[in-house]
Amino acid sequence: MTKGEWCMWGGGIAVLLLARPVAAQGGPAAPGFRAPVLSQSDTGKLKGPRQPIFFRHDIHAGQDRIPCMYCHYSAAISSEPGIPSVQTCIGCHQIINGTTDSHRAEITKIRSAWRDRSPPEWIRVYAVPDFVHFPHMRHIKVLGTDAASCANCHGEVAKQPRIYQVATLKMGWCVRCHVQRKVTQDCTACHF
Ligand code: HEC
Ligand code: HEC
Ligand code: HEC
Ligand code: HEC
Ligand code: HEC
Repeated sequence: MTKGEWCMWGGGIAVLLLARPVAAQGGPAAPGFRAPVLSQSDTGKLKGPRQPIFFRHDIHAGQDRIPCMYCHYSAAISSEPGIPSVQTCIGCHQIINGTTDSHRAEITKIRSAWRDRSPPEWIRVYAVPDFVHFPHMRHIKVLGTDAASCANCHGEVAKQPRIYQVATLKMGWCVRCHVQRKVTQDCTACHF
């Protein structure tokens, strides 16, 4: 699916996606998943760092079933996957205003960021120390680009209102999976 198609459909995304063969596409969450409505006090209790814009994966990847790779397309081509640019957001949010006051308030921040050319400074959640070599792309190539593959290391992102670190990212965590999947455990693979 191209970006153009998504934008044209705007608010009809959920309908469009449900009309597609979900299994073949590796849908991010079960059809019919509804992201909860959160009050201010719910939001205060969420795990993970407060971000400059309250971007909800449970709404985008969960309820509206936008594939992870629509936004994180560089995960398949770069050793550092990267956070989507405002351009990726504005394609939809030029049209989509939001259905509640709090959604509209957050969406206004995207439009200001776009107008003022001042991208939000997202706080990084997952990071390994500099002395560790982690080729993100190679993992995706083997494990897959669907939400289930990402869940190996990031948990069920499509159900997270706010991103938080699920795996420890410690050496033991890396090595355990490498043992299970018969991948190298050479010190020099992860430490040059
Ligand atoms: C509509 C765009 C969009 C979609 C779809 C999307 N993401 Fe994201 N993702 C973002 C944005 C924006 C951020 C940065 C803000 C944040 O951390 O909440 C982010 C952050 C992340 C991070 C944290 C990065 C870090 O270390 O700081 C992970 C992990 C992630 N996404 C995984 C996923 C997975 C897995 C899926 C599919 C289930 C997915 N994303 C779908 C836009 C998207
Ligand atoms: C494919 C279309 C699409 C793209 C791309 C998209 N969104 Fe959304 N976004 C939606 C829809 C649909 C809603 C739900 C609107 C509602 O019901 O209020 C939404 C809601 C929101 C909201 C309010 C709810 C919440 O998540 O807190 C924010 C903020 C938001 N989007 C931010 C972003 C950001 C930042 C990006 C780019 C990284 C982005 N969106 C990309 C479709 C999209
Ligand atoms: C084998 C484990 C693993 C899998 C599978 C995996 N990731 Fe990651 N991801 C990581 C680790 C570890 C980091 C931190 C990397 C670093 O610091 O260089 C990371 C970082 C990220 C980041 C932040 C990058 C940045 O530049 O801020 C995003 C976004 C992300 N992953 C998205 C995804 C998506 C989407 C998928 C599924 C298509 C996925 N990841 C699959 C382990 C994984
Ligand atoms: C969920 C399982 C899983 C986890 C967790 C995981 N890996 Fe991997 N890793 C793999 C697989 C599968 C491959 C094989 C990729 C291939 O064959 O190209 C791989 C390959 C690698 C390679 C390339 C090895 C080579 O042959 O050159 C490096 C380096 C690596 N991983 C580092 C890490 C680090 C560092 C961590 C922890 C931060 C980690 N991995 C966590 C599954 C995992
Ligand atoms: C699959 C990837 C992987 C392999 C293989 C690996 N490491 Fe690590 N190592 C890591 C990660 C990730 C960290 C950083 C997280 C942490 O502190 O556990 C780390 C941290 C370390 C540290 C710093 C620990 C500290 O407490 O600061 C040392 C020393 C180290 N590794 C040595 C080794 C040696 C020696 C081998 C071979 C026997 C090895 N590593 C194999 C991933 C790996």
